[in-house]
Amino acid sequence: MLTMAVAITLVSACGRPTQATDAEDLLTGARLYAANGCGTCHGREGRGDGPLASTLSPPARDFRDPNAFKNGSDPTSIATTLATGLTRDGGQMQSYFHLSDRERFLIARYVVSLRTAPVSSSPGASHD
Ligand code: HEC
Repeated sequence: MLTMAVAITLVSACGRPTQATDAEDLLTGARLYAANGCGTCHGREGRGDGPLASTLSPPARDFRDPNAFKNGSDPTSIATTLATGLTRDGGQMQSYFHLSDRERFLIARYVVSLRTAPVSSSPGASHD
């Protein structure tokens, strides 16, 4: 059974074009971002404008500004921040230690993608 699971994993990892896998990874990252309540503080589109944002000091990071990241803004650094949390300056960013390394990495990739995402055309989503 285990052998079969491994075989299926290998086939699904190698058998598809990289682009489709990338899109699926981003979608999974987006789902994890929503499921873990990141948007409560960071906003649905990562602009640091979630419902709790006005209560936070220091403020929740606006993911569009890579220079504002204290621990580095590449996916690996962000995944590490998710594992440790960010509270050293009194910040209220808890640790997501209960997620797997892969889940943290997928969320981190999604966070990076928000930096370059085109401005959403959905009604009410743009603040510019
Ligand atoms: C309770 C509010 C809250 C929630 C929920 C939250 N964050 Fe944060 N987050 C913060 C605050 C506040 C900061 C800034 C802390 C600071 O500057 O010291 C922060 C900082 C960050 C940073 C920047 C790290 C750096 O190096 O500067 C990233 C990335 C991040 N959060 C991602 C996430 C992700 C992904 C989730 C969901 C898994 C999440 N956050 C959930 C409040 C929150």
